[in-house]
Amino acid sequence: MLTDTKTKAPGLADLPPVQSDALLALIAMCDADPREHKIDVGVGVFRDGAGNTPILQVMKQAEQRLVDTQKTKAYLGTGGDKRFAELLRPILLGPHAGDERIAGLQTPGGCGALRLGFELIATVNPRARVLVGTPTWPNHPPIIKATRLEVSEYPYYERGQGIIRFDEMIAALQNGEPGDVALLHGCCHNPTGADLGEEQWDEVIQVVAERGLIPFIDIAYQGFGRGLEEDAYGVRLALDSCDEVIIAQSCDKNFSVYRDRVGSLFVKTGSKSATATAMAHVGQRAREMWSMPPDHGAAAVHIILEDRELADRWIVELAAMRDRINDVRQRIASADPRLAYIGRQFGMFSMLPLSKEQVVQLREHEAIYMADSGRFNVVGMGDDQLDRFIASVAGALGN
Ligand code: LMR
Repeated sequence: MLTDTKTKAPGLADLPPVQSDALLALIAMCDADPREHKIDVGVGVFRDGAGNTPILQVMKQAEQRLVDTQKTKAYLGTGGDKRFAELLRPILLGPHAGDERIAGLQTPGGCGALRLGFELIATVNPRARVLVGTPTWPNHPPIIKATRLEVSEYPYYERGQGIIRFDEMIAALQNGEPGDVALLHGCCHNPTGADLGEEQWDEVIQVVAERGLIPFIDIAYQGFGRGLEEDAYGVRLALDSCDEVIIAQSCDKNFSVYRDRVGSLFVKTGSKSATATAMAHVGQRAREMWSMPPDHGAAAVHIILEDRELADRWIVELAAMRDRINDVRQRIASADPRLAYIGRQFGMFSMLPLSKEQVVQLREHEAIYMADSGRFNVVGMGDDQLDRFIASVAGALGN
């Protein structure tokens, strides 16, 4: 048979356009805005009262020690720095730190941990659905879909009232099939700030365990909400109640090392040997995607957590960031009764009940940059910008 030589294989020039990531586009738009009074409450980075994202003092010291003492940069392997993952165990897992059915490895940020965790699910059960409450972090669905798993959405949050649609969440989880995955935000829900209370966690995990779902907890802001211990309530409850648990953790925010990409993935199965097999798969997937995680940030976190005095100082610096977040929340909440719900929420984000058109107007007329969804970073602005921000939002909400 003759081959049809006229049919041309697609070339790179045939690629369709990509819709750019909305948050990254927002960062670029804000950067390009020459107006000096612009307010950037878009991306989720902590800023202090002066509007800066300083490197933690304890991190500077650890990095200096790293420069002075590091003897080699030879490869560490797909799991990165093993000691780094061990040092995170008591902080994240609490009383479960010694459980040998739980294993962890270093990843490039929380994003790498998420991808790896879903790759693991897709390896064992490609038919699993991932139950996702909406709104969620906009990068969750693309990461899940990249592993070919199905995303099944349910409504999580009532934007007008600033409350969780808890009954709908429970109903969605009750409809899950055994082996399906429940993606849960460990604390400081992104984008809403609406965290489950302890009784709600109890009910959620009870349903998850009864239905045989796998809880997959994304915890990227531990210590930014109520406190390091309190913020891990859901993680530890899931470990109490379920044989199989996946946790994607990030140090990017609580150690303020955003661009260094420092995270970890923890996996629990019903036995030590099954966990070892699962981690071998995880290592293989990591090898295929990034081979080995970047070292620098995790090495500095390792130095901090290994040294009692530095670790204590980290806890103090972390508490200062948390106090500022909660203080700004209270200031916004008390300025306008329509914003009172913001004082009952946690972490860097809340959503304003604004339409996309109103968000665009704030951007164009007031140089205030927030996500089109109305998500804003409560500590995105310096203290000197807060009054103007509140007044502009109040104006947009109408009198
Ligand atoms: C955010 O939600 O703003 C951060 O997690 C940054 C990001 O990568 O989206």
